[in-house]
Amino acid sequence: MAVSIKNSEEIEKMRIAGRLAANVLHMIEPHVVPGITTQQLNDICHDYIVNHQQSIPAPLNYRGFPRSICTSVNHVVCHGIPADKKLKTGDIINIDITVIKDKYHGDTSRMFMVGKPTIQGERLSRVAYECMKIGIEMVKPGIRLGDIGHAIQTHAEKNKFSIVREYCGHGIGNVFHEDPQVLHYGKPDTGLVLEPGMIFTIEPMLNLGKRHVKLLPDDWTVVTKDHSLSAQWEHTNLVTEDGFEVLTEHPDKPL
Ligand code: MF3
Ligand code: CO
Ligand code: CO
Repeated sequence: MAVSIKNSEEIEKMRIAGRLAANVLHMIEPHVVPGITTQQLNDICHDYIVNHQQSIPAPLNYRGFPRSICTSVNHVVCHGIPADKKLKTGDIINIDITVIKDKYHGDTSRMFMVGKPTIQGERLSRVAYECMKIGIEMVKPGIRLGDIGHAIQTHAEKNKFSIVREYCGHGIGNVFHEDPQVLHYGKPDTGLVLEPGMIFTIEPMLNLGKRHVKLLPDDWTVVTKDHSLSAQWEHTNLVTEDGFEVLTEHPDKPL
């Protein structure tokens, strides 16, 4: 499939959806404390998206996903299903928010440290953030997706962490997941050449141990095979005439 180039009306709608998704992550931050359950976090976000933002939580019923957000704790890599288990101090959690506003999607996720952080959890989360940032800052017309994947992989491996290969970033617009696939590993000077108007996520997943993952019997939850910690950050990004615009940036938290 060809990669879509968004026009200015679509880009404006993506800015709005992106800002709304960023606002949900900002809103939920003070709630991420020891003792809260991921189901409670889901319910707070669901109510905020539906009633305050008058938007749609994209995950709910997406290919049968049963909740409105993804919550991935400790060794969960991605697509964790909110449930009645309480967070405890030292846990690390990724909260992944996708909202639909006026048919367009904004997709962003970040790590939170629950209570007193561990050195390992904080380091893994920081390097995962750096990998996302390094990738985003390379975005401009003419650069290739392989260049970005290579830079992300290099930074992760330099820090002795591994990059998950089975899940990747994606084009996004009035469709949740569309072309291109944005791999977080790869070879320089390969892959799609970026053009202004393309919009895609960059969302590297880093493991403390080996890169391999397995899918739990619920058919959603992805965990590290060796049960080591995993961390992920995600933004939705626009290729501009001379660089990039992060559509899911929050004004209080510049990239
Ligand atoms: N938000 C995830 C992503 O970054 C996708 C979640 S799909 C779901 O692409 F069904 F699990 F919600
Ligand atoms: Co995504
Ligand atoms: Co996401």
